[in-house]
Amino acid sequence: MAVVVNLGEERGKPRKPSLDAIGHLVGDDLRAVNDLIIQNMQSPVALIPQLAGHIVAAGGKRLRPMLTLAAARLCGYQGHRHVALASCVEFIHTATLLHDDVVDDSNLRRGLATANSVWGNKASVLVGDFLFSRAFQVMVGDGSLKVLEILSNASAVIAEGEVLQLVTSNDTEASEQAYLDVIRRKTAALFAAACRIGAVVADRPKAEEEALESYGLNLGIAFQLIDDVLDYSAKQAELGKTIGDDFREGKITLPVILAFRRGDEPERTFWRRALETLDQQEADLVHGIELMERHDALRDTVARASHYGAIARDALGLFPESSEKRALLDVIDFCIERAY
Ligand code: IPE
Ligand code: IPE
Ligand code: MG
Ligand code: MG
Repeated sequence: MAVVVNLGEERGKPRKPSLDAIGHLVGDDLRAVNDLIIQNMQSPVALIPQLAGHIVAAGGKRLRPMLTLAAARLCGYQGHRHVALASCVEFIHTATLLHDDVVDDSNLRRGLATANSVWGNKASVLVGDFLFSRAFQVMVGDGSLKVLEILSNASAVIAEGEVLQLVTSNDTEASEQAYLDVIRRKTAALFAAACRIGAVVADRPKAEEEALESYGLNLGIAFQLIDDVLDYSAKQAELGKTIGDDFREGKITLPVILAFRRGDEPERTFWRRALETLDQQEADLVHGIELMERHDALRDTVARASHYGAIARDALGLFPESSEKRALLDVIDFCIERAY
């Protein structure tokens, strides 16, 4: 028999938060989601399953579908609709990744060459469109207009977020508010929808739907804040993405906004050259990270994430104690502590 010893705690260190609890709780359902994903990406047009299979097989955390599954269980749902809907959520996410890697000109995703670097931008965009459309076919099969409304709204909002980011990129004077507006749309909207549909399939009262939506929204904001910290961290390589992608394309994320505002005039000149004119030299990324450290920009971005994490935690306050609730609370800690 396996004996579970928490070595971290034995040595007096707190346990490292992980997705283990939620993964354990929804494990069977998640396997069914993965089977559906493989089934639903099939097409007589061979390039579609080939390209989609590449990004799907590369893994990923499956965080958003796990949220749908756990939210439904939290609400006492006993049926099977949440499995198909969780696969739709992951399809929408996968479609946005295919498009995002084209827009961001990224070469590494989930530890593998991005689809755009293997098959080119055109194929990536078109297969992303296929996955979006397939997700909606599956939702129609589910038959709930309310779920369709939630996930179609989220999809439109994600696209708005990416377009908004495109038109505000390379502006070092961008405000924290404008940045938050982008990440709320491009990332948090899908987290919110993924969680909310858990309450919808369980036919729970509006207050529970809204609580799960708020949990997801605030968790999603925290998640993207940390993703933006990780883009300047050596940990990014472990996560299968390239460090410095945001810097190279002049993306104005919160670490940049804080370092720029807290910097003196020569520092601001550096940021403008590197991120507005994109006139970058070899050592610029390391220098940028030094400036962020000098001004505590990364540390304070993590602190902002903790703030949104606390809002997510409180949003679950109206649910009674359960293993699902504990697992969803663990997800918050995981999302924030993955920065370290
Ligand atoms: C990547 O999301 C896109 C962002 C919103 C930052 P994830 O980090 O959840 O990606 P996978 O699915 O685990 O690869
Ligand atoms: C998240 O933004 C993208 C989407 C929500 C589609 P990023 O561009 O930071 O995501 P990564 O870092 O490439 O995964
Ligand atoms: Mg990207
Ligand atoms: Mg990123």
